[in-house]
Amino acid sequence: MEATADFVVESPDVVYGPDAIEAQYEYRTTCVSREGSVLKEANYYGSLTQAGTVSLGLDADGQEVFVPFSALLPMVAPDDLVFDGWDISSLNLAEAMRRAQVLDWELQEQLWPHLEALRPRPSVYIPEFIAANQSARADNLILGTRAQQLEQIRRDIRDFRSSAGLDKVIVLWTANTERFCEVVPGLNDTAENLLRTIQLGLEVSPSTLFAVASILEGCAFLNGSPQNTLVPGALELARQRRVFVGGDDFKSGQTKVKSVLVDFLIGSGLKTMSIVSYNHLGNNDGQNLSAPPQFRSKEVSKSSVVDDMVQSNPVLYAPGQEPDHCVVIKYVPYVGDSKRALDEYTSELMLGGTNTLVLHNTCEDSLLAAPIMLDLVLLTELCQRVSFCTDADPEPQGFHSVLSLLSFLFKAPLVPPGSPVVNALFRQRSCIENILRACVGLPPQNHMLLEHKMERPGLKRGAPVVASCPLPCKKGPAPTAPNGCTGDANGHSQAEAPQMPTT
Ligand SMILES: NC(=O)c1ccc[n+]([C@@H]2O[C@H](COP(=O)([O-])OP(=O)(O)OC[C@H]3O[C@@H](n4cnc5c(N)ncnc54)[C@H](O)[C@@H]3O)[C@@H](O)[C@H]2O)c1
Repeated sequence: MEATADFVVESPDVVYGPDAIEAQYEYRTTCVSREGSVLKEANYYGSLTQAGTVSLGLDADGQEVFVPFSALLPMVAPDDLVFDGWDISSLNLAEAMRRAQVLDWELQEQLWPHLEALRPRPSVYIPEFIAANQSARADNLILGTRAQQLEQIRRDIRDFRSSAGLDKVIVLWTANTERFCEVVPGLNDTAENLLRTIQLGLEVSPSTLFAVASILEGCAFLNGSPQNTLVPGALELARQRRVFVGGDDFKSGQTKVKSVLVDFLIGSGLKTMSIVSYNHLGNNDGQNLSAPPQFRSKEVSKSSVVDDMVQSNPVLYAPGQEPDHCVVIKYVPYVGDSKRALDEYTSELMLGGTNTLVLHNTCEDSLLAAPIMLDLVLLTELCQRVSFCTDADPEPQGFHSVLSLLSFLFKAPLVPPGSPVVNALFRQRSCIENILRACVGLPPQNHMLLEHKMERPGLKRGAPVVASCPLPCKKGPAPTAPNGCTGDANGHSQAEAPQMPTT
C-alpha cells in the first residue's frame, strides 16, 4: 500500500518512503517530584487545650504573661491516648480514610501503613434510627437482642481496657446523627425503666445503648451528635453511678461562629432580629442529614444557640420576643467534606436603621471536629481528677455527673437540671479557664487591667480599692460650684474656690 499525505513535513527527522513515513521523535514529558513540597509539621491546631493559651497575669513590667492552656494543670498529652472503636462499616481505617476523601493524597499515603491494621469492632445497627441511604455501609454488626448487644459493648470496653493496659476509657459517640427518640414515661424516663426497656427489647437508640454500656462500665460518655441520646433515664443512671456524661453535638463551624457573632451583636446593643443559616456539604454526614428525621435532630441542636444571649438583654427584647432563626442544610456531593456555611444576620439600629452582616465560611468539617474530640476527652479526663470542698461541706466532691464545663465544645450543651445554659463562646471559655485557675489557687481572670487604667500608677496587688461614683446630674440646670465650675474635664469634683469678700 502506498503511503499518502496531504502535507509534507520538511525535516531531517522525517523520511517519506514508498511504503511508509519514517520519523524520529524525541519524547518529552514533565516529571513532577512529590518530594519538593513544603514540609508540614504535625500540630494540634483547633484544639483549645493544645493550641490555646491563657493569660496568667502581669509581669513586673505590667505586661501579660501567656502560657499554654495545657500547662495550667497537669493534663494527659494527646499522644498518650490509645484509640479503639466500633463502626457498622467494616472498612479498616486506611480504607475509610480513602473513602472519606478528607486528607491530601500524599498524607494518606504516609498514614496508610499506620491505619491499615486498625479495624472497627462490629456495632449496633437499628436501621430506623439513621437515614436509609446508610444501609449499604452496614456490614459489621453486633447481632442478637438489645440485652445481648448491650453486653457485647460492655465486653468490648473491658477487652479494650485490659488488652491496651489502660487506666481509663472514655467513650465518644461520633457516629451518624440519629433521629430523636421519644421520651416516654415507663420507657426511658428513669434509669430503672431504661434498663428494663433494654432487657425487654423495646425502643432504644444505638447511641443510648452505648451510653448505658459506658455508664455501667464506669466510663464517661460524650455525645458528639445532635440527637437526644442522653434521655432522662441515661442521665439518672449516670448520676447514680457517678459517671460523667456530656453533650450534645460538636460545636465546630457555623454554630461556633454564631455563638460569637450574636454575643457580639447583642452585647454591643444591636437588636438582632433575623438569623438565617444555610449549609451545604457533601460528605457522608450530609448524606445522612438529607433524610428529614435526621435533619430535624440537627435543626433542633442548632436552633437554641442564641437563646441565652437574647434572654440576657431585656433592654432589647421584650419577654417572649426573639429573632427569627432559620437553619437549612442541603446535601451537595461535589463539595465533599468542605462544608459551606452561609449566614445572614440582620439587626436593628437606632433611628430606624438596619445592619446586615453576611458571612461565607468554608469549613473543613472533619478537621474542625477532630481537635474538639481530643479536647473533650482530655478535659473530661482532667475533670475526673478534680475534687473540691467548701466550708459548708468539707467532704470532697467532684463535678456534677452532667459535665457542663464542656459547653464550649458542644452546640447544644447539656447542663444539670435547673442550671442556666450558656452558649456564648467566650463565657464558656472563661468558665473552663477560671475553674482551672481556681484549681491552682489563681483568682478568676477579670480582664480589668486596672493597673493600666489609673491616673497615677501604684496599685498594690491584693490591697482593697475604694471606688466612688456620685450620681449623675439629672436634666435641668447643672448645680454650679461657687467658682462657677462643676468639676474637671472628667466630672471629678474640684476643691472649693476661696470665698471672695463682698462689697
Ligand atoms: N464538623 C463535624 O464533622 C461535625 C460537627 C458536629 C457534629 N458532627 C456530628 O458527628 C457525627 C459524625 O459525623 P461524621 O462527619 O464523622 O459522619 P460520617 O458519616 O463520616 O461518619 C459516621 C460513621 O458512623 C458510622 N456509624 C453509623 N451508625 C453507627 C452505629 N450505630 N455504630 C457505630 N458506627 C456507626 C458510619 O458507618 C460512619 O463511618 C454526626 O452526627 C455529625 O452530625 C460532626
